[in-house]
Amino acid sequence: MNLLKTIDFAQLGDERGSLISLEANKQIPFDIKRVYYIYGTEKEVARGFHAHKQLQQVAVCVAGKCRMILDDGKKREEMWLDSPAKGLLIEDMVWREMHDFSEGCVLLVLASEHYDEADYVRDYQQFLKIQRGE
Ligand code: TYD
Repeated sequence: MNLLKTIDFAQLGDERGSLISLEANKQIPFDIKRVYYIYGTEKEVARGFHAHKQLQQVAVCVAGKCRMILDDGKKREEMWLDSPAKGLLIEDMVWREMHDFSEGCVLLVLASEHYDEADYVRDYQQFLKIQRGE
């Protein structure tokens, strides 16, 4: 199974410029309960390093780019998020890392649940154990 589930958003551009609209249960395959964005990230800083037990998210670089790594405990795949017209769907129990933020990068994340620290798995060994069913 491919870990990198991307979604191409329609660009509603005209001579004035571009516009992209994201709606729950349309372009975004869940009810959106939370939106957050990561910006001002220094070049050498990496973020993420966790999985979620029950959370769906779509990540979009609305400005700039960053390198996303997804890992399901068996394989690790990576891609550049480098277009405001490209979303990456990150489902339950996928370890994610974000690296190599470009200057001015704004990473927008749409999430299916409110923030809940108890939903995080922040320890990679613990993540692997859960994935192995231990
Ligand atoms: P964290 O999830 O560690 O960021 P990342 O995985 O991108 O490195 O979140 C950083 C801090 O922000 C942490 O204290 C939790 C808090 N936070 C919220 O309060 N609400 C949110 O929706 C998110 C994503 C984080």
